[in-house]
Parts: sequence; structure tokens; C-alpha cells
Amino acid sequence: MATSTAPKSLLRPMTFPRKLLLGPGPSNMSPRVAAACALPLLGHMHPEFVQIMDEVKEGIQYIFQTNNSLTLAISGTGHAAMEAACCNLLEPGDVILVAWNGTWGERFSDMAARNGADVRIVKKPAGSVFSPQEIEKAVTEHGPRVVYLTHGESSGGTLQPLDGMGVVCRRHGCLLVVDAVASIGGAPLYMDKWGIDVLYTGAQKVLSCPPGASPISFSAAAESKMAARRKKPVSFYLDMGWLANYWGCDGQPRRYHHTAPISNLYALREGLAILAEEGLEDCWRRHRRCAELLHAGLEDMGLTLFVDRPEHRLPTVTPVRVPTGIDWKEVSQYVMKHYKVELSGGLGETANEVWRIGLMGHNATPDNVRLLLRALKEGIDHCRSKVHSSL
Ligand SMILES: Cc1ncc(COP(=O)(O)O)c(C=O)c1O
Repeated sequence: MATSTAPKSLLRPMTFPRKLLLGPGPSNMSPRVAAACALPLLGHMHPEFVQIMDEVKEGIQYIFQTNNSLTLAISGTGHAAMEAACCNLLEPGDVILVAWNGTWGERFSDMAARNGADVRIVKKPAGSVFSPQEIEKAVTEHGPRVVYLTHGESSGGTLQPLDGMGVVCRRHGCLLVVDAVASIGGAPLYMDKWGIDVLYTGAQKVLSCPPGASPISFSAAAESKMAARRKKPVSFYLDMGWLANYWGCDGQPRRYHHTAPISNLYALREGLAILAEEGLEDCWRRHRRCAELLHAGLEDMGLTLFVDRPEHRLPTVTPVRVPTGIDWKEVSQYVMKHYKVELSGGLGETANEVWRIGLMGHNATPDNVRLLLRALKEGIDHCRSKVHSSL
């Protein structure tokens, strides 16, 4: 006999509000993606499912602009892809240079250190980006085997220029790892042309999929470093040797490694198809146009964007400074209560300083920009009137 009774909360229907997710992620699923999630399960080794995995791989190669054969989706969210990059590429004692201008450099440093790497940091405040000269200076000083950069820093809202970074890394014999979780599909990125060795992203941002399957790709040079490892990576689950085999990247018969998140991969297949139908360049342009509309609207309201230089602003996630005397949380709560719109606060260095507005994938539309601007203005006016009436 069971010793505890069924929880009463589970005997009631799930309460489920509909919200427009205009924070830094997740974005809302597109209806086609939601329909894909509801498809019946296939076995994770069935030929029809393997075909879907192959199509996912082709879609990732397209959005990354790469021909790398070691291209697949990690079962897990963006953090799992970060861990996969770290635990496969780094060995104890390897020097890694992390360009840290926000939360993602900080987290990657932490993960690299947990894998025994000798972590060196080049740091700039959130809201600023690195030049190839700054990276080259730090590389010359530290002599790393691996360099890490964040393409779309969702905590500080910066778009890191990457052209030229691969050349610097090649010149000094090191590999370049790039986090594009918040930027892929929302801003130009060319993995092969820019000489990126490891690139990863997430599913729940521009791809408008549920979190849980994270694209990643490794160059031939990254593969050579992994092949020369002295010891296996500490994680079995994220071991790229096993995953390369399960994803059909090594030319060997596929073996069971883990049960893939089947519905997540259906969703990813559909999210990639939607992006392919729109075309990568048109998708970049749509995100740029929506971001510019948003930026102009925020400035018209008298607000200040956190990132000064327009060319360094991430089109997908915009941090905007909270005016003095306004409680950011109260405004966010107002916007949620009256509009069912998510408006997030800052993260790390930007906590309490900014709101972060995400316009990604399915959600990146001029109508959503207008709705957000109206809701935000109303929320700020509401807080200001409360402050005045209490004086
Ligand atoms: C730039 C960046 N990297 C990594 C992550 C981590 O992804 P996840 O939350 O899917 O684990 C995020 C999430 O917002 C991100 O914005």
C-alpha cells in the first residue's frame, strides 16, 4: 500500500496563462513548432527518426553557414552545449582565454575551470565589445590553446564583431569557441568564413522551439584536438565521440548512446525548416528592422539604450536603462498584469539597471514592438504617478 496520497494539486486541471514572451528567452513557440511537438513518438533508432536527425543536421549546417561534418544537436539546453564544448575540447592544464563582457563569459570560465583548464580572462564592462587587436594582445600575453567569445551577449545586449577573430586565433595556433545562443538567425554569422572552431546555440530563441535541443558544430581542427586527448572527457552523456556516432557523423553504424529528446528534435526540425523557408538573410534583416523600430521607439520615450554604439547592439535582446526613481520590477509586473507580456530585468552586471526586451523568431514583428512600447510607457507612467501621489 502506498504510504502517501496523490497530491491534490495534480488532481486539478493545470492552470495555464497565455503570455507573450518578450524577455531574453524563451520566445513563444510558433504554431507549426507546437504542432510538431505533438506528433507521435518514434523510436530513437528508427530509420524515420534517423532521417529527421539528418535533416536537423543539414539545417544546423545552414544556419551556422558551415560544412563541418561534426554538426549535431546536444540533448539539453544551451548550458549543456556550453558544457559539451568545454568537456570535449579542454583537458586539464590547457590554457583558455575567455573574453568576459557579461554573464556568459563568466559562466564559460566557471565551466572551463571545472574541467581543469587554466583559465585566463580578458574583461570589459557589460555593454562593450572586444576588438581583434585587444584579443590579439591578450592571446600574445597568455598563449592560450583555446579562445572563447560570446557573439550575442544577452546580459549586456552586445553583438560581438567576429570577423578577424578567427585569423588572430589561427596566427597564434589556438582554437576559437563562440557562443551564439542568443544571436543565431538574428544577426549574420559565418562559421567557416570567420574561422570559428566550435559554435553552439539554443533552440528557444530565434528558432522559436522549446528549450532542450542545442545545435553545436566542430571544425576539423577542433576534431583533431579532441582526437588527441590523453583522457576521455569526464562526461559520458556529452562525449562527442559517442554523440558523433549516434548522429551519423563518423561513418560507422549508429549505436545507442542515449534516448534522444524525440519531440524536441521534431520541433527543432520544424524551427529550422521555418528559418530555411524565410531564408537566413531575410531573417537577419527582419530582426534588424524590428530592433531598429524598438530602439527608435524607446528613445522617443526619453529612455536610454544600455549599449551606446548602434553597430554593437544585439538585434535580438535590447537592454534599456531603468529611469531614476522607477522600480523596474513594478513596471514589469504592471506589463504582465495588464498585457500578459514578459518584460525582463537585467542579469549579472545589468541586474536592477535595465529592462531586457527580446524580439526573437516568431515574436520579432512590428506589431509586437508597438505593443511592447505601449505597455512599457503605460507601466512607467503608472509608476511615476504613484511616486508623485506619495510625495
Ligand atoms: C548567450 C547565452 N548563452 C547561453 C545561454 C544558456 O542557455 P540555456 O538557458 O538554454 O541553458 C543563454 C540563455 O539565455 C544565453 O543567452
